[in-house]
Amino acid sequence: MSSFVCAEEMQKQNEYIAKINLLIGGKSKRAFVYTLGCQQNEADSEKLAGMLCKMGYTMTENEKEADILLVNTCAIREHAEKRALSIIGRFKHYKVQNPDIIIGVCGCMSAQEHRMNHLKHSYHYVDFTFGTGDLHRLPELVYNALNNGKRSFNLDSEKPLIAEGIEPLRASNFRAWVSIMYGCNNFCTYCIVPYVRGRERSRKMEDILAEVKDLVSRGYKDITLLGQNVNSYGKDLESKTSIADLLSQIAKIEGDFWIHLMTSHPRDASIEMINEIKKSPRTNGHFHLPLQSGSDVILKRMNRHYDLEKYLGIIKELRKENENITLTTDIIVGFPGESDEDFERTIEVIKKVKYDSVFSFIYSPRKGTPAATMENQIPSEIQHQRYERFCQVQNDISKEINEALIGKVVRVLVDGKSKNDDNMYTSRTQGNKIVHFESKKDLTGTFTNVKITRADTFNLFGEII
Ligand code: 5AD
Ligand code: SF4
Repeated sequence: MSSFVCAEEMQKQNEYIAKINLLIGGKSKRAFVYTLGCQQNEADSEKLAGMLCKMGYTMTENEKEADILLVNTCAIREHAEKRALSIIGRFKHYKVQNPDIIIGVCGCMSAQEHRMNHLKHSYHYVDFTFGTGDLHRLPELVYNALNNGKRSFNLDSEKPLIAEGIEPLRASNFRAWVSIMYGCNNFCTYCIVPYVRGRERSRKMEDILAEVKDLVSRGYKDITLLGQNVNSYGKDLESKTSIADLLSQIAKIEGDFWIHLMTSHPRDASIEMINEIKKSPRTNGHFHLPLQSGSDVILKRMNRHYDLEKYLGIIKELRKENENITLTTDIIVGFPGESDEDFERTIEVIKKVKYDSVFSFIYSPRKGTPAATMENQIPSEIQHQRYERFCQVQNDISKEINEALIGKVVRVLVDGKSKNDDNMYTSRTQGNKIVHFESKKDLTGTFTNVKITRADTFNLFGEII
């Protein structure tokens, strides 16, 4: 069975777009999309915005003036779900003032049956919900809401499909997301993603290459290849291909641009992929390799399918003849059954590897995942104590690494003016380190070299040379 939404279905959605244009055309209607969660959600929201513009809406940053409001939700931790519900709650006032407003909820939270039902029964002003696999159906849902006002609540099918051809409205004109695959097959015991985003589906290599080429030709300088586990790209395609093949094809595209991979799984990190990453200056500056825990016992309980030795072997390969690579990771603190010794293992590993930065999270039980019902859930107080200690240790490491850059010249891509100072610019290195510098000239969207003069845990400061 094909993993792609068929041409007839996409045509049907285009017809809905045309019908919406007739309904709202010339009425200067506005749309607002609130995005929570990861880069995949950011990328999805750009597609939602692209479709809304085609329907005839103008995007607004001001939720109060919107005629349609979408909340693209996240479910990875409880905090994200609470935030989504509070934002949706806030939107009620707008509907009370103007009952013609349309409110839709999508993304990972609404892709869970219990959450969908909760929204249906307790949030009567929500017009529709849809899961991540139904993104392309937004025109149909908006049309129905405009036309007959009937509420609709949708869960993804068992096998969500890839919809090609939705043009995103990109937030930046020099940094871009390119999804290369969707879903996840790994079922780490803490993670909700496989339940809300379905199994792995890879896009065809030619579609990805066409998108990257187009972006580069339009001046994009930083392209992130997105997927829940990019290392297993291509395994589900008929023409068996791999992330290493994809990277080697991208390497043939001419131009000055960076490529990031987000995110990867140590289990599937092949030597071919590591070699491709190291081969090119476009990719050899940064790698994000989630560790999750430094204890083999916990890694097993997490169903991660690697042990510390294998993980450290990959780090060693990444650094071999490439010692300046920026390394980042994800860590979960306070997973069920994590003993003091297990936690100390994690501390030892971060001291040993010396990551440039770490995304650390307190374990949050997710309904329907195996870890949520495991014995020995760690009391919140201990989780927080460990988390504090973890952050202290890592912050010192990050500071030490950043301070070692003082006097060195780094290449950065300039994001734009700093918020508080008109002469200051904010930029990022290939490894996503934030660098501030002064400039009279607007360098937004360009590469430049900066000599580092000062550093703290999260920021570098320098002078352009
Ligand atoms: N609790 C805490 N952190 C989690 N992550 C995924 N699921 C959970 C959870 N239930 C973290 C992992 C993953 C990152 C994106 O979020 O570290 O790599
Ligand atoms: Fe979640 Fe594990 Fe898949 Fe990452 S690899 S999305 S942590 S199940």
